[in-house]
Amino acid sequence: TGLSSSTSSMEAPTTSSSSSSSSSGHTVLFDIGWEVAKKVGGIYTVLKSKAPVTVDEYKSRYALIGPYNPETAATEFEPLIPGPLSSPVIDNMMKKYGIHVHFGKWLVEGYPKVFLIDLQSSMHKLGEWRWDLMSGFEQPGDTEANESIVFGYQSALLLKEFAESNPNDKYLAHFHEWQSSIGLILLKKWKIPIATIFTTHATLLGRYLSAGGVDLYNQMQYLNMDYEASKRGIYHRHWIEKKSASDANVFTTVSEITAFESETILSRKADVILPNGLKLDQFTALHEFQNLHAKYKNVLHEFVRGHFYGHFDFELDNTIYVFTAGRSEYFNKGVDMFLDALANLNKLLQQSGSTMTIVAFIIMPSKTNNFNVESLKGQSYLKDMRRTCNSIVESMGDRIFEATSHGRIISSDELLKQEDLVMLKRRIFALKQRPSLPPIVTHNMVDDVNDPILNHLRKIKLFNSQEDRVKIIYHPEFLNSTNPLIPLDYTEFVRGCHLGVFVSYYEPWGYTPAECTVLGVPSITSNLTGFANFMKRGLADPESKGIYIVDRRFKSPQESVDQVTEYLWKFCQLDRRQRIELRNRTEKLSELLDWKTLGKFYSTARALALERAFPPAPTTNVRSPSPIPRPSSLSTPSPLSTSSSSISKPPVVLVSNNSIGTNSTVEATKEPLSTLPSQSAFTSLLSSSLSNKTTTTAVTS
Ligand code: UDP
Ligand code: G6P
Ligand code: GLC
Repeated sequence: TGLSSSTSSMEAPTTSSSSSSSSSGHTVLFDIGWEVAKKVGGIYTVLKSKAPVTVDEYKSRYALIGPYNPETAATEFEPLIPGPLSSPVIDNMMKKYGIHVHFGKWLVEGYPKVFLIDLQSSMHKLGEWRWDLMSGFEQPGDTEANESIVFGYQSALLLKEFAESNPNDKYLAHFHEWQSSIGLILLKKWKIPIATIFTTHATLLGRYLSAGGVDLYNQMQYLNMDYEASKRGIYHRHWIEKKSASDANVFTTVSEITAFESETILSRKADVILPNGLKLDQFTALHEFQNLHAKYKNVLHEFVRGHFYGHFDFELDNTIYVFTAGRSEYFNKGVDMFLDALANLNKLLQQSGSTMTIVAFIIMPSKTNNFNVESLKGQSYLKDMRRTCNSIVESMGDRIFEATSHGRIISSDELLKQEDLVMLKRRIFALKQRPSLPPIVTHNMVDDVNDPILNHLRKIKLFNSQEDRVKIIYHPEFLNSTNPLIPLDYTEFVRGCHLGVFVSYYEPWGYTPAECTVLGVPSITSNLTGFANFMKRGLADPESKGIYIVDRRFKSPQESVDQVTEYLWKFCQLDRRQRIELRNRTEKLSELLDWKTLGKFYSTARALALERAFPPAPTTNVRSPSPIPRPSSLSTPSPLSTSSSSISKPPVVLVSNNSIGTNSTVEATKEPLSTLPSQSAFTSLLSSSLSNKTTTTAVTS
């Protein structure tokens, strides 16, 4: 691993050609996140998928900091011996503060270096640190924040040690979400010379208010946010988020819609918007994703054969797989609407006499006591049947060979022997013995009676009965390839499906539809997601490219459900050739979501943070330093692979007090980038990248 070489650990490099270097010393970058080497939701995807481009840019001057989780570390982390720069810092952390820091590499593409801090080594300091941070608070305690407080002090001390031991380098710390950002507040409080960025991937209160039924986008301006947070017992966490936004050199969000909300909830306008990208596999041949669809669809077919044993009266060749997935947020993730639309679709298909079957998967973790017997039984019956058929075929083959080698054609009576027929009849008999309908949920739920998804299914009476054209599979656990029912990784599962449905009410970005797009799977999403607003801006007719956007902003819930139903219905009318063509068109949008393009917004945010944290010394020289590049035009981004005729030039949309992703148009301004509306910077960068123009990010020459 070359542990003492400059490429193996956080060390000053020997060259400084990268945009991350500066005239005095080098820039060292840290991403700090609660989901480093631990999957929870989309922030894990941001950090993991962005790692290759960041490592590429910063080389050994990049690392991530997160809490140490022994369970996930076993598969996500490999320890390394720290190099000469990290080694004394890690030693000091132990000697001075008793903090145990694990150093190593994160086992994801790019293999970024990580510092995983053991929270347990400082839990005894909680009271002291909590008092130091929040002693004057009148609001009641919010114990959910305790681990974040400990991690905050630990990570701030780690960063302080780095900055103090290498005063010639410029340190840049990018904090993701409130759970990891107390360190930012402390760096400012302790006056440590480190440039800071805070990205909120959602606001805590926005999530709570939406989930609690508040009409967030119309009502937030009338609410007292501190009071609302207090009322919900989340004041301390809300305070951390607000203070982080306020203290950061640069404040960013992942979309305009979240920037809009943050302005009210966190009282700070976002400086830059950082749309989330994905790591695209540049070498996937165009046709390959279609073959992969067929391959993984066959795995879903096999699952369905087993799950519906005894009730398997539909044609797999005329079956469509739709799904929704994500953290279990019944209302915010739009599961309620998805289910209502499925119920409508079921009726429409029944009324039209359609023979098509829709199998709808809901992949959302909930508390369970493992898989239920019925689901496991279905798969074991199927495997038994496969084994039986295979062994019959094998002995049939032997008999055919035997007869042929004796120079005669085997008679049809000899083909299937009596005992074979008995075995087959037994299997068929077993199928018919199934007393109940195929289960709608694959696991034993800990709280079956109160599960909102199950209750909704009960209400709309979708129970996998024979007459239902829409069948339900609720799988309350994330997928992986060792799963005994659906042995697929999540990505493989998505490939095998035909359509993803993510009609969220609260969704700052929404990786799930973005992942569908790069995998060539059409999706239905809502105009309240960061992803949909981003795509809509670049595409004249998103629907024709497999991005269906439901209006949840200006339509009533019933109208939105009708729109979801309509999209589902329309999708069901496509024939195979049309579905293949649509997948091709969807997959062509991938490049719009590539970190190679979207990483540039991170560069902008970093340059701005460095500029603010380390302002150039006043000079008497008449020539002022060259500014961070400003957008020269406000043209709208377009997918590289889309013909120009299909690209519209809608107004550039900015965050404003009265609109979310709607009508406000902003002209190019003469302001420096630090005060430029983030979206115009975003638009220009993207278009320049798409037209292969180089955009530099150096702060000054
Ligand atoms: N996901 C997963 N396994 C699953 C279902 C979902 O790993 O079985 C991942 C998915 O790939 C996505 C993330 O969960 O990257 C959800 O991120 P999103 O931004 O959509 O929502 P969040 O959970 O962050 O609100
Ligand atoms: C891919 C495969 C084809 C297959 C098709 C099925 O395009 O390359 O061989 O026929 O998928 O598509 P469908 O939408 O019916 O699952
Ligand atoms: C948050 C948001 C999600 C976003 C993710 C990554 O968890 O809920 O919409 O995609 O962060 O930014």
